[in-house]
Amino acid sequence: MPTDRLRVLVVAGARPNFMKIAPILSALRSAGHEGILVHTGQHYDAAMSDTFFAELGIPHPDYHLGVGTGSHAVQTAKIMEAFEPVLLETRPDWVLVVGDVNSTMAAALVAVKLKEQTGTRICHVEAGLRASDWRMPEEVNRVVTDRLSDLLLTPSEDAAPNLAAEGIPTERVKFVGNVMIDTLFTQLETARKTDTLSRLGLTRRGYVAATLHRPSNVDDVAALENVLKALARVAETTRVVLPLHPRTRKNVEKFGLTPLLASLTVLDPLGYTEMLALTDGAQCVLTDSGGIQEETTALGVPCVTLREQTERPVTITHGTNRMAPWPLTVDGIVQTYHEAIADAATHGPKQPAGWDGRAAERVVQALVEATR
Ligand code: UD1
Repeated sequence: MPTDRLRVLVVAGARPNFMKIAPILSALRSAGHEGILVHTGQHYDAAMSDTFFAELGIPHPDYHLGVGTGSHAVQTAKIMEAFEPVLLETRPDWVLVVGDVNSTMAAALVAVKLKEQTGTRICHVEAGLRASDWRMPEEVNRVVTDRLSDLLLTPSEDAAPNLAAEGIPTERVKFVGNVMIDTLFTQLETARKTDTLSRLGLTRRGYVAATLHRPSNVDDVAALENVLKALARVAETTRVVLPLHPRTRKNVEKFGLTPLLASLTVLDPLGYTEMLALTDGAQCVLTDSGGIQEETTALGVPCVTLREQTERPVTITHGTNRMAPWPLTVDGIVQTYHEAIADAATHGPKQPAGWDGRAAERVVQALVEATR
């Protein structure tokens, strides 16, 4: 296998992938390696995809698979079908997948099936995170992708024991840190210069930002109603800004819950820089996103997570995150929000090990070392 110039097929498909691949592609190219970008098209709206490419300076994808939305089976199958010929044509040293979306697992499955034929190995960036909840589609994607990968690069020190417990050989696992935080540091100054807050009539620390898109919160009418009522309760004292994911918007309309949005400032999905500005300026963030739990920790902004568990416990042990009590109730969410802001004086930006803006360089280094 060549050791000098690596050919790496980098796969991205959904919104949370884009901020992870941006620094990796850049580090690959700076080190003289070839990064070939495949966009599966899992996310396709301009606000969910193109905006991120433009803002983060991600090169135009070399291959766009255009798969779009579907059931899990349909989406995963379409990605696999479309990715196979790309892999056969490019025959890279590595397929590099990030995170835990369907695109991540689908590409890894294709690569492992063609391994004998292509000699291509699989690298998973953000390996080893576990929520221990098989009802979460992302948990299935995480476990399967890790099991198939030759090189497992972890974002935080709590990940390696999860992999060891599943019998994954330790020599395949390497701690590199959090590539998403590389992007956060690169973009923070730009975000702070945007007019996001003034345009929305917001003042720094004078509002709560909220995001909701997990099926467990938004696909069930009672669950969604509950969370929206809690946000409305918070909005009685502090302005609440809610950029709406397309899945959530569709379900709010379908379930007839639109009146519950009346007291909230509801926005279309924001691009990366504006979302970072909104998160950075918030008094507190209420979210069911994985990435935002990490971003609030890096920024020192209190975060209340609206889920049963988190696959990112480092944001609680070393950061600013806390879980709302499960099962979620209006009172439980509101009380946890009050606790989070009461505690805020003790918060500053928290940087777990490896959240230092240089994780992507370590990804490239790990690929080079593993290729030897
Ligand atoms: C996916 C990921 C999830 C991630 C989330 C971030 C999986 C299993 N889930 O969930 O881990 O946190 O992305 O956003 O991979 N839609 C649009 N426009 C788009 C994309 C989606 O309107 O550009 C609509 C689709 O019609 C679909 C719904 O949103 O009904 C869900 O899209 P999908 O990609 O299936 O999953 P997400 O909920 O976005």
